[in-house]
Amino acid sequence: MTQVFIVGAAGKIGRLLVEQASARGHRVLALHRARGQGADIAALGARPVQGDLLQLDAVALAGLMQGSDVVVFSAGAGGKGGAAMTAAIDGRGLELTVAAAQLAAVPRFLLVSAFPEAGRGTLRSDTFEHYMVVKKRADVHLAGSLLDWVILRPGTLTDEPGRGRVRAGLAIPYGNVARADVAAMLLALIEHPPLRRCIIELTEGDTPVFEALQALSPP
Ligand SMILES: NC(=O)c1ccc[n+]([C@@H]2O[C@H](COP(=O)([O-])OP(=O)(O)OC[C@H]3O[C@@H](n4cnc5c(N)ncnc54)[C@H](OP(=O)(O)O)[C@@H]3O)[C@@H](O)[C@H]2O)c1
Repeated sequence: MTQVFIVGAAGKIGRLLVEQASARGHRVLALHRARGQGADIAALGARPVQGDLLQLDAVALAGLMQGSDVVVFSAGAGGKGGAAMTAAIDGRGLELTVAAAQLAAVPRFLLVSAFPEAGRGTLRSDTFEHYMVVKKRADVHLAGSLLDWVILRPGTLTDEPGRGRVRAGLAIPYGNVARADVAAMLLALIEHPPLRRCIIELTEGDTPVFEALQALSPP
């Protein structure tokens, strides 16, 4: 059993991961922002932990994640609150969580990032361009840490049912991917610690999730 601390646990990917990881018998601590989200999270089998990335400091957040084996960061402003909120959550929120993981000596850190080709070939708004810059800076920050990190870059997210099959690689063509399959890949990463310090691109595909992950692992 692994103790997993999920930041953004009430989000769409977060909830799916809470559900999947709890069903596999992991101890899941689920950081959510609004007090009203706690009962739903508990019903999925996790321990709700209320906290706001805009209010917490690294010491307080470290206290909440104490004893965890892995942190998953799947929080994001989701375009609400403009560029300032994207910078505060997707950017500084990630940096705060990395600092907290280091303070709490949580060794492993999984980040849900963004596929670099997102929106390429279309006229991207300044807001979207800024979002991509913040996401890349967050990747750079985590990759520069001493943590045992994996950065997952999913393509465009859909709410289709998960197929349990994906395409994963260090560099793959751009595409869509179901949030449920992103959660399944995060769960596989939680359960497969040998894969570390790498960036994985993820889209829909034909390979069962765990096989796709094993194919990326060192022999
Ligand atoms: N959309 C795409 O196609 C796409 C593609 C690749 C990657 N991504 C990235 O994938 C990640 C997850 O996506 P998703 O669909 O699961 O997003 P989501 O449903 O918007 O979930 C984001 C979560 O972050 C939480 N959050 C926001 N501000 C917070 C704060 N101050 N303190 C604590 N939590 C806070 C939200 O809390 P509330 O529930 O209280 O709002 C929400 O639960 C995002 O980082 C996104 O950038 C998206």
